[in-house]
Amino acid sequence: LYHVLGAKQFGRDELERLFESSHEMEGVVARGGDRRHQGKIMTSLFFEASTRTRLSFESAMHRLGGNVIGTENASQFSSAIKGETLEDTIRIISGYSDVIVMRHTEIGAAKRAAAVANVPVLNAGDGAGEHPTQALLDGYTIRKEFGKIDGLKIAMVGDLAYGRTVHSLSYILANYQDVMIYYISPDNVKIPANVKKYMDEKGIRYQETTDLDSVAGTIDVLYQTRIQKERFPSIEEYEKASGLYIVDGELLSRMRKDAIVLHPLPRAGEISEEIDNDPRAAYFRQAVNGVYIRMALLDKALSESK
Ligand code: CP
Repeated sequence: LYHVLGAKQFGRDELERLFESSHEMEGVVARGGDRRHQGKIMTSLFFEASTRTRLSFESAMHRLGGNVIGTENASQFSSAIKGETLEDTIRIISGYSDVIVMRHTEIGAAKRAAAVANVPVLNAGDGAGEHPTQALLDGYTIRKEFGKIDGLKIAMVGDLAYGRTVHSLSYILANYQDVMIYYISPDNVKIPANVKKYMDEKGIRYQETTDLDSVAGTIDVLYQTRIQKERFPSIEEYEKASGLYIVDGELLSRMRKDAIVLHPLPRAGEISEEIDNDPRAAYFRQAVNGVYIRMALLDKALSESK
């Protein structure tokens, strides 16, 4: 079965094939979709809130001719609320559908699900762990915007501890040559040691700092993130980290003319709406790319897991 559980599973060759497939999916969407997975069913099982991931996966499945079942708030409206284990829920859903897309509150939940599933499991975010399909669409966006990933300077800014997208994006970028990563965060939400250890093992250059201003003029990509209020142990810890990095017109004026600003979204004040119409503000283009990447992933999972 072709599961997508974490971003470390992707090597460069597979990434290039996936990006090529995503590019082809842009053409499929432009032609109004096709029926290649007619009769197939995707379960959308989200124990945490989502707009982009759930709806772009659902859109992707419809574009491929398939059907979608699921629950918007699985914590409340699935039998998890009656005490059913995640494993039993997955065993049951495996009999109802051909692929499961799951977001859960706990790190490692997707791996637990895959261990008992009879169909592919695609991790749509596991707590503060990983968000591999987001990182794939981020990588696809960077490649589309610059025509390459090798050699780029990328600043990841904000909540690097609880923000799962930056963990997965680091693992994707570790496949490329001569990238330089700046991890820019408040002291209480630094990039975790396990991510740094992986980057060290892969020989990727990175620098940790609290100072966005010192690199703003040199970077190619500013990857801004939301401070994940819901994951902090206390409101005091959250307040120490919030409001420190805001991308606004003044900051953008000090960035390169060919740089881009990305954000997995949703934003909560850390990107000013005043920059939305600047061509360097690429976060809405980035969100659209989620449909193409997820079409490519669903196509691969459904084709390889027959
Ligand atoms: N980027 C992202 O995961 O957004 P949602 O939480 O809306 O799915």
